[in-house]
Parts: sequence; structure tokens; C-alpha cells
Amino acid sequence: MKRAIYPGSFDPVTFGHIDIIERSAKMVDELVVAILNNSAKNPLFSIKERVSMLEEMTNHIPNVKITFFDGLLIDCARKMEASIIIRGLRAVTDFEYELQIAQTNRIVNSQIDTIFLTTSLEYAYLSSTIVKEVASYGGDISHFVPEQLVEKIYHKYNYKN
Ligand code: PNS
Repeated sequence: MKRAIYPGSFDPVTFGHIDIIERSAKMVDELVVAILNNSAKNPLFSIKERVSMLEEMTNHIPNVKITFFDGLLIDCARKMEASIIIRGLRAVTDFEYELQIAQTNRIVNSQIDTIFLTTSLEYAYLSSTIVKEVASYGGDISHFVPEQLVEKIYHKYNYKN
């Protein structure tokens, strides 16, 4: 069974993440979306909320499973018996950091490879940070996240849709 892991903060999940999930799920038998449970990052959404949002947004893809992890991604990948790490690349600015992490992970465990998918062009600008920035000022985020999430995000900033 070919299993891949797609890690991230997903705070919140965006159309860009969903695009990567849909495309990478087609390439493997099982795709595990692994959410980093890092309280140091002071996330907008709790880990429980992020798991629930990702489950809702991926329930149309049968071979996708949602989990969360603490600590090193490479350890999580090994525990999940995933041989591939999936990361999205939006622009050249992502590349340097992603390359460094991918190479570090491969030094630690050479059995696990990182595969980069280029983000679809319509989402190349998009990030969870941008969504939060726009939402924090009550701006329109309907182009960035599925409509079921819009209200949940505004709610965190006490805005009504
Ligand atoms: O969505 P993000 O914030 O870009 O995801 C980053 C993530 C979670 C993939 C990365 O921070 C990560 O893997 N963190 C876990 C710690 C780790 O393994 N770091 C890489 C080796 S230094």
C-alpha cells in the first residue's frame, strides 16, 4: 500500500490545501493529512476544530484520513508507515525553506521522500495567513476558503458574514 502524508498547520484549511489534497490523493492508495499540534504557534483554531474542518472538507475523497501530530514530521510519517511526504510549492519564495526541510527529513530517514506539487495557479497567492489577515478586518474571504468555513473564521474575529 502506497501511503503519503500531507503535513501542515491548516489554520485554517484553504482552497489551496484542498487542491493539493485532491490531486495527491489520486497518486497514492492512502493520503494522511497530518495537522501540526503546535501551541507555540498560537493557532486561531484548536487542533480539534482543525481536524473537524479538514474532515468536513475532505469527506468526498474516500482515501483521505485526517490526523494530528506533535514533534517531528518524519517521526509521524514513520509511525503512519508513510513513504512519501507531500508539500505544495506556491512560488520560488517557498522553495528554499521547503528544500531545507525536505533535505533534513531525508537525512534523518532516507526511506521517506518528499514530493512537491506546484499549487494550481489560481491559488498561488493564497495562504492561511492571508485568510486570517483579510478576515481580521472583516474582508471577503469567500474566494479563499469553502463557504462552510467562512462563518467559523469570522466568528473568531467577532464579525458576522
Ligand atoms: O502549514 P505549514 O505551517 O507550512 O506546515 C509546516 C510543517 C507543519 C510541515 C512543518 O513546520 C513541520 O513539519 N513541523 C514539524 C517539526 C519538523 O519536523 N520540522 C522539520 C524538521 S526541522
